[in-house]
Amino acid sequence: MVIAQKSQLVVVANRLPVRRVELEDGSTEWATSPGGLVSALSPALQESTDRCWVGWAGSDSTDSTEPFAVDGMKLVPVPVTADELDNHYNGMSNGTLWPLYHDKVGPVEFHRHWFDGYRTVNKRFAEATAEVAESGATVWIQDYQLHMVPGFLRRLRPDLRIGFFLHIPFPPAELFTQLPWRERLAEGMLGADLIGFQTPRGAANFQRVASFLKVATVDGKHRLKHDAREVRLGAYPIGIDASRYENAARSHEIEERSRDLRAGLGNPRTVLLGVDRLDYTKGIDVRLRAFKELLADGVLHPSQVTMVQVAEPSRDQVDAYADLRARVEQLVSEINGDYGRVGFPVVHYIHQSQDFDELMSLYRAADVMLVTPFADGMNLVAKEYVAARYEESGAMVLSEFAGAAHQLSDALTVNPYDIDGVKAAVAEAVNMSPEEQRTRLRALREVVKSTDVSFWVESFLNDLAVTADAV
Ligand code: G6P
Repeated sequence: MVIAQKSQLVVVANRLPVRRVELEDGSTEWATSPGGLVSALSPALQESTDRCWVGWAGSDSTDSTEPFAVDGMKLVPVPVTADELDNHYNGMSNGTLWPLYHDKVGPVEFHRHWFDGYRTVNKRFAEATAEVAESGATVWIQDYQLHMVPGFLRRLRPDLRIGFFLHIPFPPAELFTQLPWRERLAEGMLGADLIGFQTPRGAANFQRVASFLKVATVDGKHRLKHDAREVRLGAYPIGIDASRYENAARSHEIEERSRDLRAGLGNPRTVLLGVDRLDYTKGIDVRLRAFKELLADGVLHPSQVTMVQVAEPSRDQVDAYADLRARVEQLVSEINGDYGRVGFPVVHYIHQSQDFDELMSLYRAADVMLVTPFADGMNLVAKEYVAARYEESGAMVLSEFAGAAHQLSDALTVNPYDIDGVKAAVAEAVNMSPEEQRTRLRALREVVKSTDVSFWVESFLNDLAVTADAV
């Protein structure tokens, strides 16, 4: 691979799609990370010399800026110091923007030094991108950690075609305008030619913010004018690699592992499953409370149902995440204390990340999937479960505040703030007839397959390609 060659397509995301893994002899090497965005974009970047991915290589990396290749993907590392990480990532990204954009479900803090670190890191990402992009190249910037990159990049390289996609909800103007740096963040995004959101509501919220702050004029639906340029807005709900999930689900190894998992749980009548990053937006506590009350009410019986909750460790340097961990673990132990028997806890709680095969086996083992976020850009777990249930059995409880609910209306949708509503939906899912499961899953699978990840990539990049010509 010619590492020095400039790129025609540059993906820019906070994290590079790789991480350091330890080998048996104690040495380490790069491996592709699991995760939605990586599997979404890596096929478009692999084995291509004129495409690359710009991002932070993680805390274990050196501060080298030398491009390198992993699994046929050209990667351009952006170094971030420990201090910058604290201000840009833990602070502004995950202590300000993340909770604000998720309806203030978690505590929001505004700190000027966090914003300064955020701007510095965004500027560095823009400079690194400007270095590697070929003349007239397409650049696709991802997510809330990099709001200001499009603006900085536009100034450095007006020849580029720039797209920006926000993976998390874009909040109503009432929330966004609380940001002391609201104009600078909105203007940063407006450096793009096309700004993509998960839902039409995100696009509408941004349009309202832009005209309220007078940083752009509205030139039609989803069409803005900023700095004498046209900026398009659009909804592009992200999908998954549905056939990869389905093929894995059909494999003998996964089927066998899922049988072992069920046997390990004592072969209960019903297995309930939750799979999330341990994040306060995900409503893990809601579903545990609903489960606890259903056991207390006698609607569910500990000898017949078992819940598995995978809670992948996440952002543990941020206080709100440590607090949530304590709350969730307290609830799990209360439920097991009250309803478990020796050798048979009713909740199996896994605070570890699971590899692809183990996740697939869990999806195969689960009769009921619980997806109950208070707010969520999309929620790919909901789509993964659907893709894994190729024989059309299983039921899903899905929060109406997940972007996925716009598409997956055949799930049992709930308001996660309404605990009685969640309880009723869980009970309905547990007792759903095989015919109803089939009808619903058939409709859900149709959506997940027809709007898969390649559809997402193609529709965004095709629309970006026909935005007004760059200079
Ligand atoms: C969400 C965000 C991503 C982020 C991921 C994991 O899906 O939209 O941008 O990468 O969570 O969070 P982390 O903070 O570990 O990158």
